[in-house]
Amino acid sequence: MMKGLILLVWCVAASAAVGLPLHTDTRWIVDGAGERVKLRCVNWVSHLEAVVAEGLSKQPIEEISNRIQWLGFNCVRLTWPLFLATNESLNSLTVRQSFQRLGLAEAIAGIQANNPFIIDLPLLKAFEAVVGKLGEGKLMVILDNHISKPGWCCSNFDGNGFFGDQYFNPDLWIKGLTRIATMFNGVNHVVAMSLRNELRGPKQNVNDWYRYMQRGAEAVHSANPDILIILSGLSYDRDLSFLKNQPINLTFTSKTVYEVHWYAFSDGSSWESGNSNQVCGRTTNNLMKMSGFLLQQGFPLFISEFGIDQRGTNVNDNRYLSCFLAVAAELDLDWAVWTLVGSYYLREGVVGLNEFYGILDWNWCNLRNSTFLQRISALQSPFQGPGLAERREYNVIFHPLSGLCVVRKSLLDPLTLGPCVDTDAWYYTPQKFLTLKGTYFCIQADEIGKQAKLGIICTVNNAKWDMISDSKLHLSSKSSNGSLVCLDVDSSTNEIVTNSCKCLSRDSSCDPSSQWFKLVNSTRSLGRGRSMINMVGSSLPNVATKFVDL
Ligand SMILES: *[C@@H]1O[C@H](CO)[C@@H](O)[C@H](O)[C@H]1NC(C)=O
Ligand SMILES: *[C@@H]1O[C@H](CO)[C@@H](O)[C@H](O)[C@H]1NC(C)=O
Ligand SMILES: *[C@@H]1O[C@H](CO)[C@@H](O)[C@H](O)[C@H]1NC(C)=O
Ligand SMILES: *[C@@H]1O[C@H](CO)[C@@H](O)[C@H](O)[C@H]1NC(C)=O
Ligand SMILES: *[C@@H]1O[C@H](CO)[C@@H](O)[C@H](O)[C@H]1NC(C)=O
Repeated sequence: MMKGLILLVWCVAASAAVGLPLHTDTRWIVDGAGERVKLRCVNWVSHLEAVVAEGLSKQPIEEISNRIQWLGFNCVRLTWPLFLATNESLNSLTVRQSFQRLGLAEAIAGIQANNPFIIDLPLLKAFEAVVGKLGEGKLMVILDNHISKPGWCCSNFDGNGFFGDQYFNPDLWIKGLTRIATMFNGVNHVVAMSLRNELRGPKQNVNDWYRYMQRGAEAVHSANPDILIILSGLSYDRDLSFLKNQPINLTFTSKTVYEVHWYAFSDGSSWESGNSNQVCGRTTNNLMKMSGFLLQQGFPLFISEFGIDQRGTNVNDNRYLSCFLAVAAELDLDWAVWTLVGSYYLREGVVGLNEFYGILDWNWCNLRNSTFLQRISALQSPFQGPGLAERREYNVIFHPLSGLCVVRKSLLDPLTLGPCVDTDAWYYTPQKFLTLKGTYFCIQADEIGKQAKLGIICTVNNAKWDMISDSKLHLSSKSSNGSLVCLDVDSSTNEIVTNSCKCLSRDSSCDPSSQWFKLVNSTRSLGRGRSMINMVGSSLPNVATKFVDL
């Protein structure tokens, strides 16, 4: 792993104006000029009992949105409970009254200090004001109907799971969606609505899915024709497999996006109890079967929730993340990380609950873990899609464990890891050589434990790289004495070396992810010279913005 301060890419293009509204062009989300806009979002929770966007008692909303943007995200998936839109005695409560009824005096004082503008607004107006502030912060917003009855989501028996459940009346849902869609008609930066989070529970069935999702989508479209409509699947947003043979019928085109959730715990504790290569292979195949096929059908796929315990102590989460990052990079998916939230006013009865999956810490002040941000930063710029500059597709050699890519400073320097925006272009040839664009050089294995080299005489003995194991994430070749080796990273120097291949199968005690590399197809523009790298300490507000040349 990288030593010292982490390096975060200061994405110069991040704040570039995007021509809204968005629409879809095959599997890509594009702007008015037809150029790709990659959604790289944070989830911001606003659907719990208080029905106020979390964190407003900790920091001014302008500070929080600046940080979101500064960290390279361009959008917020803002959650809302249906009853905010349909229950007048709820949505007419002021923010102050809402906290008072829950006995949250400290939150009131915090909001009074940090965001006084919102304290006496009725809840629905407060929601509107939050959305407005995010727009001022140059962030796009996706409004996600997360649940009906305000509270933590989700379980099979919480009455919010599927059409017909105790709190999930389809007609009321249509009414609420229509109201919110209407309210934000003409608000440019509200770019999408996701109709319902994590359908689930004993009542779920495919027929009702088509019936109601179709109605919901048409209702939102009529109320607000400018926004993308995001549809989620069954079984907690895991299953869209039924669309393979029966597409949904909608009266509009170029606006439908599908969403999917993928966590480590989606597969129980498989990651911890199994072999990482095998679990990664299995869960990736499953993703393609359940939802990934939609890309080939010409729909964008939005991973609207993924995330890990950022303390780094959850083995299941840690092993999953490298696999997730490899897949998300390869497919160049749009995504939203769970979650921005550092702590909640009140969650599941606990006041001030600390969110270990949160990007921000308990105080919404510092980054909880900068390593995590470095790893996902590789996914922030698009690799492919309409508007990207390079005509000939090349490969990026992505290393998910670090979030970095294989680069070389000069032909004489060793291969090492560096920021993916500054990557070299590689071609994976039909002979399975990895050649450097514009040269005859290819990557060659030497001996176990030695640096991988760039050489000019490429032979199948030491320059043919196979993608092996169930995960296909090991790049293997032969060392100079003919034994099987895998590309790896020397953790003390970040140099690219070859080692014996680690736990290719069966072994569940070892973690192969230092040897995981993904060849990502890219047409991202090259040769714009050294990009500026922003050195980010973990204390955001005080950080000096310092540019270094890597
Ligand atoms: C509407 O909200 C109020 C205030 O939270 C609550 O007491 C009431 O039960 C809600 N009504 C419905 C139908 O959910
Ligand atoms: C969509 O329309 C086609 C043709 O009218 C029909 O065969 C199909 O069953 C419809 N699908 C749904 C999900 O309603
Ligand atoms: C951040 O995450 C890394 C990798 O999982 C872990 O090793 C480290 O201990 C974490 N740091 C903090 C402060 O939680
Ligand atoms: C190749 O060298 C490694 C040590 O560098 C050794 O472990 C391995 O057995 C050797 N293989 C052959 C085929 O000689
Ligand atoms: C990457 O490009 C190769 C060669 O054009 C192609 O076979 C492969 O399907 C592409 N992968 C993805 C994920 O698009």
